[in-house]
Amino acid sequence: MQLNDSIQGMPSNGAAHMPVLADELVNLLAPQADDTIIDCTFGAGGHARKVARELGRDAVFIGVDRDPVAKRYFDLFSQYQPFRCRFIHGNFADALEDLNQNGFEADLIYLDLGVSSMQLDRPERGFSYSYNAPLDMRMDPGRGTTARQMVNELPNAELARIFQTYGEERYARQIARRICNEREKKPFETTLQLVDAIKAAIPTPARFGAGHPARRVFQALRIAVNDELAALERGLENALSLLSPGGRLAVISFHSLEDRIVKQFFAARVGKCKCPPDLPQCVCKAQAEIRVITKRPIAPSEEEIADNPRAQSAKLRVAEKLES
Ligand SMILES: C[S@@+](CC[C@H](N)C(=O)[O-])C[C@H]1O[C@@H](n2cnc3c(N)ncnc32)[C@H](O)[C@@H]1O
Repeated sequence: MQLNDSIQGMPSNGAAHMPVLADELVNLLAPQADDTIIDCTFGAGGHARKVARELGRDAVFIGVDRDPVAKRYFDLFSQYQPFRCRFIHGNFADALEDLNQNGFEADLIYLDLGVSSMQLDRPERGFSYSYNAPLDMRMDPGRGTTARQMVNELPNAELARIFQTYGEERYARQIARRICNEREKKPFETTLQLVDAIKAAIPTPARFGAGHPARRVFQALRIAVNDELAALERGLENALSLLSPGGRLAVISFHSLEDRIVKQFFAARVGKCKCPPDLPQCVCKAQAEIRVITKRPIAPSEEEIADNPRAQSAKLRVAEKLES
């Protein structure tokens, strides 16, 4: 299917999103023809189309995305499917909670975290340090705080914390200080204004090191603007509650902060005894809720990375819910 710009909000440069680790995701989820499936991060539906090939008329497919543009891709996807389809616009943490409260059960739930190529490649969304655009970065442009508000209003120490924690930015304090000095003279409005401030704040050799000098700060701001890590933590809890026994949960993450949350979430639910080692017998009665299917996270092949450099840092983890 050729996706083009004839629908407002879709990419104008022909850059459709290439789904990452798609074959691995489908193999490990092993969809059955009549499964009920939730794709928590529908995007352009790349993973959804692969999963849909395994489904029959009795399947139910729910796509969730907080970006309203994803609904347009969902409509293109769903019109070709023989099974029931529904789109939920919103944060997957909220959507899963609502489904849970309504007694819904799913066989397979998957999350492909972060931003899509369409979001990065639409200059007006303000996600990219490569285009000049209003500093926005909201995945849902209809709600929440923008990157412009954060950069202009947060205290120096909070900006430095965000750059350090979510971007692992070595010059976090220098960049935050520079931003605070510059905004006194003129508020930040655009992405390239911020890029210039970052470049001016770091030592000259660091401007020419590996990767773009603004990459880490942009990642950090995007995570903060969209409160991505809190959504992931809440989303995982709600996803596990929604799964029927034997159901599977898969997560593709793109940086160590996300992967650590998934890894720790799985590790806390495999039933490992938490008693102090000097107790003669177990008193915590730890019960396993899941079985981890990927003992080590699955990474993309070299061929996939060569075809799609955005796959480089991806990691896939999958777990199966056990009978309670
Ligand atoms: C990497 S893309 C997914 C691409 C998709 N799997 C595909 O193959 O086309 C991530 C998508 O998840 C959405 N997203 C990220 N965090 C979200 C959240 N907490 N709730 C809902 N959608 C989210 C983004 O808006 C984006 O469209």
